[in-house]
Amino acid sequence: MVSFILCLLPALLATTSAQGETLTCNTCFGQTETCSFAPGTCQDNKATGGCLSVAEDITLDGTQNTYFYKQCLSSYKSDIEVPISFTVGNGQYVRINTTRCNTDNCNSALPGVPTGSTTENGLQCPTCFALNFTVCNSAITPCTGDETYCMDFTGFLYQGPSFSPFQAKGCASASAQAIKPGTNLATALYTFDFFWGSSVPAEKIPTNPPPITAASQETPTATLNTTITTTPSRTTSPETTTSGASPALGKFSFALYLPGLTGLLLVKLLS
Ligand SMILES: *[C@@H]1O[C@H](CO)[C@@H](O)[C@H](O)[C@H]1NC(C)=O
Ligand SMILES: *[C@@H]1O[C@H](CO)[C@@H](O)[C@H](O)[C@H]1NC(C)=O
Repeated sequence: MVSFILCLLPALLATTSAQGETLTCNTCFGQTETCSFAPGTCQDNKATGGCLSVAEDITLDGTQNTYFYKQCLSSYKSDIEVPISFTVGNGQYVRINTTRCNTDNCNSALPGVPTGSTTENGLQCPTCFALNFTVCNSAITPCTGDETYCMDFTGFLYQGPSFSPFQAKGCASASAQAIKPGTNLATALYTFDFFWGSSVPAEKIPTNPPPITAASQETPTATLNTTITTTPSRTTSPETTTSGASPALGKFSFALYLPGLTGLLLVKLLS
């Protein structure tokens, strides 16, 4: 037995020294750029790990939090490295600037806090944020600044030892396309672990329909306008607007559909 272990020892030592190349990174945490809480270093496996440095402005819990953070990354490959911002409605947003690298102490400098913008950019997205499988009731919200994509993501949100499933929809920077199933976004407050999602270019805010007068209501087109303007909840998506409006189009649209319906009936009868 002893000789067996002795035989194994050189092999074990060899493996350890091959894998054992360590990476040293800076650590700290704080609400100002001095990042003065828990300053120090951490070590990680150079082959798989990395160093992270983060500046963030997050209002997901309803209060504005600016944080600075330096830490080791164990999942260098799957952590997102670009500045990302997304807004999920009700003034709740995540703006995060990240530096990710893997040479010793490469995270000594902090990135700048992304400032965001309140200037509307003419685009819109469904927005909502829900934790723990509550319903993500989305409302259409105008997008601002460089948030020109609509994102829809689900995953787990880790905060310290606790984690909650989440769903988030909103306006996002083009860099949110880097969010793919299996990626992580490490912030000082949270870690987002995404397991499903998509980002698509946001749609333009439709121009308002002309105001309705009593006279114009008698024309079929005005009926369509009325339908859209009197059912704001229907405007949450273009699909619902269209299908919600069609029953109210009355005789005019029925006449339009009639040839098609007849055709369908014929197909049905002949088959
Ligand atoms: C991120 O930080 C870098 C480095 O400080 C800075 O040049 C850049 O403007 C920041 N990005 C955003 C979106 O604020
Ligand atoms: C979600 O569930 C977790 C774990 O049970 C809990 O810690 C957290 O407070 C819940 N969050 C909400 C918003 O209910």
